[in-house]
Amino acid sequence: MLSGKNILLGITGGIAAYKICELVRIYKRANANVKVVCTPNALNFVTKLTLQSLSQNDVATEQFEIDNFKPEHISYADEADIFVIAPATANTISKIANGIADNLLTSIVAAFKKPIIIAPAMNCNMWSNPFVQENLQKLINNGFLTVPPESGFLACGTTGEGRLASLDKIFDKTVEILNCKNKILTGKKVIITAGGTIEDIDPVRYISNYSSGKMGISIADCAYSQGAETILITTKDVVKPYKVIKVKSALEMQQAIFDEFDDTDYIFMAAAVADFRVKNFNEQKIKKTESNEMTIELIKNPDILKSLCDKKANSNSSVKIVGFCAETENLIDYAKAKIKNKGCDYIVANDVSRKDIGFSSDENEVYLIDKNLDVEKFEKQSKALIAEKIIGEVYAKSRNLCNIK
Ligand code: CTP
Repeated sequence: MLSGKNILLGITGGIAAYKICELVRIYKRANANVKVVCTPNALNFVTKLTLQSLSQNDVATEQFEIDNFKPEHISYADEADIFVIAPATANTISKIANGIADNLLTSIVAAFKKPIIIAPAMNCNMWSNPFVQENLQKLINNGFLTVPPESGFLACGTTGEGRLASLDKIFDKTVEILNCKNKILTGKKVIITAGGTIEDIDPVRYISNYSSGKMGISIADCAYSQGAETILITTKDVVKPYKVIKVKSALEMQQAIFDEFDDTDYIFMAAAVADFRVKNFNEQKIKKTESNEMTIELIKNPDILKSLCDKKANSNSSVKIVGFCAETENLIDYAKAKIKNKGCDYIVANDVSRKDIGFSSDENEVYLIDKNLDVEKFEKQSKALIAEKIIGEVYAKSRNLCNIK
């Protein structure tokens, strides 16, 4: 069932570590390639020799045993398709949730960009400790997968919740995730906006912009193919195998997003929202007059992106909000200013003055900027490939930067 899959198995220092010897055998029987990494404390409960013999691979514990050109935590992170940490102690869960990387296992987690399954096991009072729960919740909010512990007789002699989940459950979860071919957005709800908004002047005229909606629609297609419950809110006419909500104006777009906001994991605001709408919509077609001039009064539209970031800040939502920034000059500086002013988690910036990657083009070249103002460039390529890169990187960064909510 797991033929050709590379499983990295992390063992931390709890008594349930002894059960993981059997889990190694279960993975091996399913034809997986298994590598084990232990925290130093795990070796108080199981021996390296046992795990080496069962996994038929070296077992790593020390951070600086470098025997190839890559630092060990990076090469382990690169090779594996999935990282399963079982048992995960309160200590390791809390370290990961706070970005601490003080041993090989926690360093690998910090560098790992593919799915991570956490199977906690500990004494029932430790399990109910609010700090442990808060830290575990942080991990879940940032894309970690869990196999929760069960109730029963615990090694410390008490009965309660905290016993490592059955090995079958951990195995099934591993198969489920790997057989989804690493569909990173399975179980996630994603909203994408696309296209320029249309602000009516009268029944026959409107104000809009050149946005084709292609970038946003490519992101929606990619989110869908990555297993997300996908909701595309757009001004364009498109038929898709996922939910499409057709809107016209900025106000309609804002209402549609707010209606769908609850339980959303990611929002990509790729729409080109008009900053202004006509103050007094004319019910009848405006007739020309003798004058050579005419004035249309405009009124500011809400900044939808900012209102979403404010809504997130005032709720328990852990939604990751990605803004977009189309500029004709000073691209990076303007983008950095926007991420700060609007409060979004990421911003994707592109130069719309360039004809080869402009509004209706099928290609794009973008910069992804995070809250730390780190900039990553995605070279010119199709919008479909850019969409994959944006989703992959936002997913990976959101999961690793646990302390950025
Ligand atoms: N945006 C929005 N609501 C608006 C204007 C923009 O939600 N009224 C969003 C866009 O969808 C995009 C981001 O804000 O994700 C940046 O849009 P952009 O037009 O580049 O920035 P503005 O805030 O409009 O700033 P400016 O026009 O001064 O460049």
